[in-house]
Amino acid sequence: MSGRVSGKVVLITGAASGLGAESARRLAAEGAHLVLTDMAEAAGQDLAQSLTAQGHQALFLTQDVTDEARWTEVARAAMDRFGKIDVLINSAGISGSEPFLEMTLAAWRQVLSVNLDGTFLGMRAVAPLMAEGGGGSIINLSSILGKVGMAGASAYCASKGGVLMLTKATALELAPLGIRVNSVHPGFIETPMVTNALHEAENGNEMRDLIISRHALGRMGLAREIADGIVFLASDESSFMTGAELVIDGGYTAA
Ligand SMILES: NC(=O)c1ccc[n+]([C@@H]2O[C@H](COP(=O)([O-])OP(=O)(O)OC[C@H]3O[C@@H](n4cnc5c(N)ncnc54)[C@H](O)[C@@H]3O)[C@@H](O)[C@H]2O)c1
Repeated sequence: MSGRVSGKVVLITGAASGLGAESARRLAAEGAHLVLTDMAEAAGQDLAQSLTAQGHQALFLTQDVTDEARWTEVARAAMDRFGKIDVLINSAGISGSEPFLEMTLAAWRQVLSVNLDGTFLGMRAVAPLMAEGGGGSIINLSSILGKVGMAGASAYCASKGGVLMLTKATALELAPLGIRVNSVHPGFIETPMVTNALHEAENGNEMRDLIISRHALGRMGLAREIADGIVFLASDESSFMTGAELVIDGGYTAA
């Protein structure tokens, strides 16, 4: 099989839904071998089975990214199956939308734990294995909300700003090992994370209109439009990129 990431072994967290799932489909089509992980077991298994049925190589493992010991097991299982890990995509994430003055420490910690600790744990478990194989590419899902604020999303913004700077610092530290580390900053994208939040909000339609109006292109993005950027960062086409912020936001942060 030939493709833009032919033969690369890609580990994706949060792979059962949204951006992780679409990235898995696009990367498989470009020749990658996949290790898919998520807490959502049934959806993750379904995706791995459908990719396998199409002739791709895909393994699904249940994983909570905040569980340090599980990261060791997942990395080992990936090595046992494929013998290397070329690309890590940290896509598992949660939104969290409490008003700041009402936020409990537990709610704050929950968002930071999945979005920031999970990314840290993944990088720390996988980077040594990548280094042994001569290097690789780490792709961290941050957000436009890691670059600009949004009322009602303080924990999420803090976590995604943390992912941005974790990416830059580790890009410097891991470059001598041949590992590139970049962050992706999507605008609002039509995935279950966004559609469920709008569905649950009292003023969901109003919020949708407001969100759309903040994107210069006048719409939300599609998962495919983020997955295309992720394929680029996973491939050797981005071989001179590290510590960079790939903003794919329909012009949201241009204002
Ligand atoms: N959709 C957007 O508009 C948008 C915008 C900017 C950034 N992002 C980021 O992109 C990433 C993917 O978002 P999405 O839109 O695909 O969301 P999604 O809700 O569709 O998918 C997220 C996946 O992460 C999994 N997950 C949640 N907590 C987990 C945990 N502790 N361990 C393992 N898996 C866990 C969920 O089960 C789910 O399958 C997230 O990090 C999100 O913050 C999304």
